[in-house]
Amino acid sequence: MNRDIVHDGLADISVAETELSHVDGARGRLILRGHDVEQLGGHATVEDVAHLFWHGALPNAAQRAEMQGRLYRGRQRAYALLPSLTAALTVSDAMDALRGATAQLSDHDADLPAFLCGALSVFAAAHDRMRRGEPALPPNATRSQAADYLGMLDTKPPSEARIRALETYLVTVSDHGMNASTFAARVVTSTAADSVSAIVAALCALKGPLHGGAPSQVLDMLDAIGEPKNALSWLTDTLSRGDRIMGMGHRIYQVRDPRAAVLERAIRTLTDQGEATARLALARAVEDQATRLLDAQHPTRKLRANVEFNTAVLLEAIGLDRTLLTATFAVGRSIGWLAHITEQRAKGKLIRPRSNYIGPMPA
Ligand code: COA
Repeated sequence: MNRDIVHDGLADISVAETELSHVDGARGRLILRGHDVEQLGGHATVEDVAHLFWHGALPNAAQRAEMQGRLYRGRQRAYALLPSLTAALTVSDAMDALRGATAQLSDHDADLPAFLCGALSVFAAAHDRMRRGEPALPPNATRSQAADYLGMLDTKPPSEARIRALETYLVTVSDHGMNASTFAARVVTSTAADSVSAIVAALCALKGPLHGGAPSQVLDMLDAIGEPKNALSWLTDTLSRGDRIMGMGHRIYQVRDPRAAVLERAIRTLTDQGEATARLALARAVEDQATRLLDAQHPTRKLRANVEFNTAVLLEAIGLDRTLLTATFAVGRSIGWLAHITEQRAKGKLIRPRSNYIGPMPA
């Protein structure tokens, strides 16, 4: 029997041509539809990148306002559905809540990208409120997507600094090449299935700790280490047990993830308060020690801090509960997913690779 070469994990295989984003792993560069991530993170709004990804260019002021209205109306339509989604949203895991609630949405909305993107923020916030025994809060037409996400989490109006920090995060993670959740969305779309199904598939892929599920475990690790002086022994023990260090390593980047610096800047500008600064100092100490230990263990493979490391510290400093971090990632990444769904649909080609059969043959 002829055997193909198997590319485990599809490493080094290109599966699509895309105009949406490019990850240059050797140089540590991320291009989001023609713009370096450093140009957008900390400067652009969620509305800006939604326009960039869905319409091909950054918006002017009128287009930005129109996108804000579209996303608000998407949130509003999703909020109106909450009474019928209570059972789905009151499960214990935030990603299970997003998956269950999203699966019940109709694919026939007149503005599906804005509806689905808005819906994820409404569902994540509603799940978090219900987990705390509080009623869901309605969206607000005067707020941007980032501001309203915080506004739907808490009755206390969010500060400008927290809004800007969350905005930086959501923009920075809006797309990232052919990552696992984007690929999942594209595979489902390639079968001519609907966009809701593709988004549900993407949510399922994002949930895993090797993709979007790592940040809460980064915080658990920082809690367990406690102080910089404990980092070396804690990390050495972890590696000697054969466990992975969460927030370290990436399939594509051989240098530090460029998003780490954008998020680190956001952490620094968010607050000078002692607590966040101390957390950042601990995170840097852990990153330094982990880099050294992983370099010694894998001299030919550069395992550096990935986006989840600083995501964890930033979202914690913004005040989000650690159970909500992956769901917040989904709110940001949905902008990219929806653009990839459109691009894949236009391609119209079923994604269907082969496998090498190694099982028994009939006698
Ligand atoms: N801690 C310890 N060892 C790690 C590691 C980590 N974070 N990441 C990779 N390695 C090791 C693996 O154990 C493997 O060792 P081996 O060759 O001796 O078996 C080697 O490095 C290659 O790992 P592999 O799983 O083949 O690489 P990958 O490209 O498939 O995986 C990740 C990439 C991101 C899944 C991986 O680095 C990881 O699990 N990181 C931790 C989880 C995380 O931060 N996820 C968020 C990603 S954005």
